[in-house]
Amino acid sequence: MTLQKEIQRRRTFAIISHPDAGKTTLTEKLLLFGGAIHVAGAVKSNKIKKTATSDWMEIEKQRGISVATSVMGFEYDNYKINILDTPGHQDFAEDTFRTLTAVDSVIIVIDAAKGVEMQTRKLMEVCRMRHTPVMVFVNKMDREGKDPFDLLDELERELHISVRPLSWPIDMGQRFKGVYNLYKNRLDLYKPGKQTITESVTIDMDSPELETHIENPLAKKLRDDIMLITEVYPSFNREEYLAGKLAPVFFGSALNNFGVKELLDCFVDIAPSPRPVQAEERIVDPYEEPFTGFVFKIHANMDPNHRSCIAFVKVCSGKFERNVNYKHVRFNRMMKFSSPTAFMAQKKEVVDEAYAGDIVGLPDNGNFKIGDTLTAGEDLHFKGLPSFSPEMFKYIENADPMKAKQLHKGIEQLMDEGVAQLFTHQFNGRKIIGTVGQLQFEVIQYRLLHEYGAQCRWEPLNLYKACWIESDDEKELEEFKKRKFLYMAYDKEGRDVFLAESNYILTMAQQDFKNIRFHFNSEF
Ligand code: G4P
Repeated sequence: MTLQKEIQRRRTFAIISHPDAGKTTLTEKLLLFGGAIHVAGAVKSNKIKKTATSDWMEIEKQRGISVATSVMGFEYDNYKINILDTPGHQDFAEDTFRTLTAVDSVIIVIDAAKGVEMQTRKLMEVCRMRHTPVMVFVNKMDREGKDPFDLLDELERELHISVRPLSWPIDMGQRFKGVYNLYKNRLDLYKPGKQTITESVTIDMDSPELETHIENPLAKKLRDDIMLITEVYPSFNREEYLAGKLAPVFFGSALNNFGVKELLDCFVDIAPSPRPVQAEERIVDPYEEPFTGFVFKIHANMDPNHRSCIAFVKVCSGKFERNVNYKHVRFNRMMKFSSPTAFMAQKKEVVDEAYAGDIVGLPDNGNFKIGDTLTAGEDLHFKGLPSFSPEMFKYIENADPMKAKQLHKGIEQLMDEGVAQLFTHQFNGRKIIGTVGQLQFEVIQYRLLHEYGAQCRWEPLNLYKACWIESDDEKELEEFKKRKFLYMAYDKEGRDVFLAESNYILTMAQQDFKNIRFHFNSEF
């Protein structure tokens, strides 16, 4: 197959949701359709159960599982599908944010009874920032949930995106009969527990034949609903979807396999193949022949005696080949890789080649950082790996004076891996770790001890937000930094960060210093 065809048939996406909405279940059903697995229950959830927030051993065990399910590739209908898994626990949101930089589109799973939840809202912000095309799957229609029209309103309001249903539920809860597929004008009916479509007919809504498949008043209600949809919502426009402005919506039940095939069939049809990627120097087109790629995730190994990792590289253009020399741009050095791995379903295997859109895992012992670029020789730097303003902060202190060096190295490497963010106080040089959840502090402490033999101690620090600041007005910037001297820090790259103690203080600072821009993520 030509390079062009190989790339065109790739669909690389992530499924995102608030924990418990059904991401794992949907992933598993998609893999079943792809024939990548054969029995339900085969995909181990990599989410950390809610009860385990302080049970770090449990997390460690699950980390082993999650490397296998980090990327799941499979073939479906002549498409090569790559699902990038995102850690389900809300404390790991930062890792999830970064995964979103490596996908070409996203499927959002919503619980029909709960609607749009907090984590979904946050992740959607990242999608919006990057204009990532999104599709929505409203799950758990086999349970009593919110009214589908209310849900559509909620999606538009909460996710700030236009929506267009492409499948429509016929009743819900125990009375759930199936969906009308608006994309194919087809009626797909189900029987609970059957896990398959029991009846599928192409049918026009106006045809009296509808009543032979579903009884009144359901047929009438469906007709009215579809008419309302056609009147109220603009007809589906793929360009708008691809621009990230319009989200097609599907309804179903992942657990019962209702509506999943409709989603998948439409997905492969309309979802984007690998898209051009913005590097600092230029836009890189996926169909360019020379290989380029970047590291978006680093996964440390379980074995504490060997600090070996897997660096996950998203191929941005061309073809990656085993044992071919590529340039590690930050090191300005050529490197080749003898055992790159690809991820097929839950298996990891050595591959000879990978194409734009694919993810390859490179065994690594400290050469890579998040954001590192590999190319066939060109000096390129890929952008778009933002760090988000953390929400929790603690001072990190050395608890074993004999191991200061180990602690320093450990902190440095864990930060390169993207476990959390490090800030250094400009005033006294104290190190501050910023995270998006409590769990990350436990992860860091545990890993420092087990992988580096270093001991750390946390000291409380009451901060509201850390924001990156910049200004064209040098004088005002200097004045600000002088005035806020006690609250200024450097990030890992040495950029100025303002540590605001409260929302009030931040708002006042924004008011008093009108020429200073306050950024809540590092990509500006
Ligand atoms: P997550 O990855 O988004 O966190 O969610 P996951 O798929 O693990 O699903 C969360 C819970 O919701 C699971 O139940 C799962 O069985 C259930 N679920 C998923 N899809 C549907 C659906 O379409 N209908 C209904 N009624 N339930 C659904 P659990 O009891 O937490 O876990 P388990 O013991 O069943 O694995």
